[in-house]
Amino acid sequence: MDAPNKEFALAGSLEELKAKGRLVVHGGHRPILVIYDRGRVFALDNRCPHMGFPLERGSVEHGILTCHWHDARFDLESGCTFDLWADDVPICPVEVRNGNVWVKTAFGHADPAAHWHQRLANGLAHDIGLVIAKAVHGQLAADVSLTDIVRQVALFGAQNRDGWGMGLTILTALGNLLPVLPEEEAYLALLHGARRAADCDGEAPRRERAPLGSRPDAAALKRWLRRWASVRHREAAERTLLTAIAAGVSPAVLADALLAAGTERAFADTGHSLDFINKAFECLDLIGWEHAAALLPTVVGQMVAARGAEESTAWRQPVDLVALCEEAASELPELFAAGRGARGWSDHAALTRELLSDDPAKIVDVLKAAIRAGAAPADLGRSLAYGGALRVARFGNANEHADWETAHHVFTHANAVHQMLKRIGTANADGHLMAVRGVLHGAMALYLTRYLNVPPARLPGEGGAQLDDLPTGAEMIRAALLDAFDRQRQVDLAARLVARHLTLGYSPQALIATLARAVLREDAGFHAYQMLEAGVRQFTAWGGADEGRHILIAVARYLAAHSPTERAALQTADIARRLMRGGELHKEAGAS
Ligand code: FES
Repeated sequence: MDAPNKEFALAGSLEELKAKGRLVVHGGHRPILVIYDRGRVFALDNRCPHMGFPLERGSVEHGILTCHWHDARFDLESGCTFDLWADDVPICPVEVRNGNVWVKTAFGHADPAAHWHQRLANGLAHDIGLVIAKAVHGQLAADVSLTDIVRQVALFGAQNRDGWGMGLTILTALGNLLPVLPEEEAYLALLHGARRAADCDGEAPRRERAPLGSRPDAAALKRWLRRWASVRHREAAERTLLTAIAAGVSPAVLADALLAAGTERAFADTGHSLDFINKAFECLDLIGWEHAAALLPTVVGQMVAARGAEESTAWRQPVDLVALCEEAASELPELFAAGRGARGWSDHAALTRELLSDDPAKIVDVLKAAIRAGAAPADLGRSLAYGGALRVARFGNANEHADWETAHHVFTHANAVHQMLKRIGTANADGHLMAVRGVLHGAMALYLTRYLNVPPARLPGEGGAQLDDLPTGAEMIRAALLDAFDRQRQVDLAARLVARHLTLGYSPQALIATLARAVLREDAGFHAYQMLEAGVRQFTAWGGADEGRHILIAVARYLAAHSPTERAALQTADIARRLMRGGELHKEAGAS
């Protein structure tokens, strides 16, 4: 029969093709459409790259193939689409020999990793979810590392938007979770992260700024950064930060400088400003600190523009909380000096209980006492973060729905402060003093949200609350949890199932993967990703005892209050996966 080689299959005779106009070859991986048009023969994947409709049902005119489902149009020769949302159709080699038509039945690329890297770049540039999903899937199939994919997306987001945004925060939060996610959830996480980071439509691209020609010492750069933050001078702050990076200042010193500058305003932008700064640091941990100059300055614009809580009435009356914080901040050098000799402070949970008091002066006093007793800045941050989680775990169901976000802001801000203080450490005894203002501000934000726990929701599994009516097996509990997230307002049931899972001693990792699944199958809001990741961080810090359980209960209650959603992204992920895996995607439609 004179086949070009074994990879080619006989489609039919040229005469038959001419007579019929098109033939379909059922290759091993996917059906192939062979078309005769104006004296030439073409072969393409028969499945429309948009949603898999059989292209054999389309029409050809002037070298353009039109799919008859959503009317996407393709160049017959190259497979390239005229409608970017539909993606290009893969084509395959075709040869005519001795009156017979042969097609190569295997599709592929000489360098799949490079091909899908470029496709992801295209998908991000045009913000096309389906192209992004296929490219992520293609890169994973080509054994591109998760880190490389996160890096590509993060650098795209940093260059194509004039400032750090929600998308990069989501990407980083999900990037942090990748090590604990099963394969399917990792694909969804990358897809959500990429789609949200690609949302740069209408945004001004970033304008590069240069470091100063001089290299002042770190203390001077930190002083300047605080000054530029306080007078809202963005360009000056960016050049100062770039100079520090160019000087090779360590991540810990950079963190100290930015946290000091970021706390020039109290609880700036309801905590988002510090959360974004912390996420930029975590993103660099993921993608490599050699990208610091491209990424870190993106947080500066928001930091200097942020509105501080000192501008709001609630922080000034009836008690001047800002004055309380400023007075305590002025005592920090003396307090930390007094605590320097003490060792082994570990009263984290006890401190949290006192931070939840309803007297702001007393709250400041217990923080001061803890410092004198030897608590390090990161210890304070950890206690504060647990307090924030308890606000969510005990969030009363009678509150307005929007108040979930109020509780969420306090928790995620506290988590960011905790992570930044851990990063800063205590190597430089005087270096972290300004940064500890983040704890004072967080403690006041926690105080102001005390009404959210009046009356408090009961923590499941405590005070004699029974959980025996719930399933016993680990998988049944997790299935029931996903079922609860599938229905609206199952806040308390979700909390009880989490408590059931943990009190029976089942794997926290499996539970966390289920919570991640619950977020990743939804078109989740920005805060859901933040809540999940901060909760997992804090669970890791606190472990599986009561505190860890309360933290995951907080996560589950928040997620249950915001589920379910439309799940459009999950549908896109599923279509992309099925198109990439081959097979007759639209068989039902093809048979109808
Ligand atoms: S345009 Fe072909 S399936 Fe939508």
